[in-house]
Amino acid sequence: MKQVVEGGAKLFVHTGLPSKKMLVFFNPRKDFDRTMSVEVVKHLKPKHCLDLLCASGARGIRLMREAGVTDMTFNDANPEAIKLLKKNLKVNNLKARVFNKNASHLLYDLNEYFDFIDVDPFGSPNPYLESSVRFLQRHGLLAVTATDTAALVGVKPRACMRKYHARSQRHPFMKETGLRILIKHVVETGAEFDFALKPVLAHCTAHYFRAYFIKDLGAGRADSLLREVKFIHYCSECGHRGFKPCRHKQCITLGPVYAGSINSLGINELSEEDSYPPWHYTTTELVKFFKSGDEMRIEGLGARVHYNPKGFKTKKSIIKKKRK
Ligand SMILES: C[S@@+](CC[C@H](N)C(=O)[O-])C[C@H]1O[C@@H](n2cnc3c(N)ncnc32)[C@H](O)[C@@H]1O
Repeated sequence: MKQVVEGGAKLFVHTGLPSKKMLVFFNPRKDFDRTMSVEVVKHLKPKHCLDLLCASGARGIRLMREAGVTDMTFNDANPEAIKLLKKNLKVNNLKARVFNKNASHLLYDLNEYFDFIDVDPFGSPNPYLESSVRFLQRHGLLAVTATDTAALVGVKPRACMRKYHARSQRHPFMKETGLRILIKHVVETGAEFDFALKPVLAHCTAHYFRAYFIKDLGAGRADSLLREVKFIHYCSECGHRGFKPCRHKQCITLGPVYAGSINSLGINELSEEDSYPPWHYTTTELVKFFKSGDEMRIEGLGARVHYNPKGFKTKKSIIKKKRK
C-alpha cells in the first residue's frame, strides 16, 4: 500500500497490476476518467450523490474535494474496500455515508432517489443498470463505465449479442460502434420504465467506455431517444458506412447503435465530434483503398476523433475514383 495524490485527494491505495484480484481495486490509469467526472459534476452540480462501487473511494473523494459535493454516499461489497475508504475519508477530512452492501440490492433497500449515481463495475454495468435508472432523480446524472470492451467492439460478438442485444464485429471504427452500443443499451433500459436517459458525454479511453446520461420522464421523451437507435452498415470492399447497405456482399450490419448526439455537454473538445455521423474513417484504411494512380478526394474533412489518433469524421462520402 502507498499514498498517492490524485487531483485534490490524498489516497491510500494498493499497488500492482490493476485487476479484480487486488485486495482493493485501484487503477492509476483511470485518473483521466475520474478527472472527467469532476468536470461533469462541477458543471451540473448534483447534490445527493452515490458512488455505488467505490473501491478505495478515489472517485467520490475527488468529487467531494474538487467538485464541492458535500452529500456523498459510498458503497462497496468488499469489506477491505470499506476499511480503506474510511481511512481515505479521514485523511481527507471528509464525512460521508458508507455502506458495505451488494450494489444490486442497495438502491432497492434504501428506496431513495439520488441526483448522481456512478456505476463503475468490473466488466459490464448490466447488473446495476435497472436499479440505478429507477432510483435516479428527474434531471439526475447517471455515469456508466463498461470494461467488457471485447464484447462491445466485436472481439466477442456472441457476448455482445447476449449482453447488449447488438451485432458487433471488428471493423475500423469498432470503438465508436462499441461505445454507441453501450449507450443504446442504457437508453433502452431507461425506456423500459418510460424514462428518457439522454446521453450527454461519452468517451472511450484505454480499456474502458464511459458514458453520462441525464434522466427525464415520459414515454414520449423515451420514444424520441429510441428513434436514434439504428443499424449501421460497413463495407470492407469499398469503405462504405451508412444507414443503408451498399451493393457489395462484404457489407456487414452492425448494432443497433445509438446514432444520435452523445457529447452535447460542451465542456470539452469531444463536442467537436458530435455533429458528424456515428462512424469515422482512419487514414490507415485509406492507404488500403487508394493505390498509386488512384485519384483520392476527401470531401468535407471534419473533426478528428478521440477513438483513434488516425481517425477523422466527415459528413461527405469519401470518393474512390477508378484507376487511370
Ligand atoms: C472497478 S472497481 C471500482 C473503482 C473505483 N470506482 C475507482 O475509481 O477506483 C469495482 C468495485 O466494485 C466492487 N464490487 C464488485 N461487485 C460488487 C457488488 N455486487 N456490489 C458492490 N460492490 C461490488 C468491487 O469490490 C470493486 O471495488
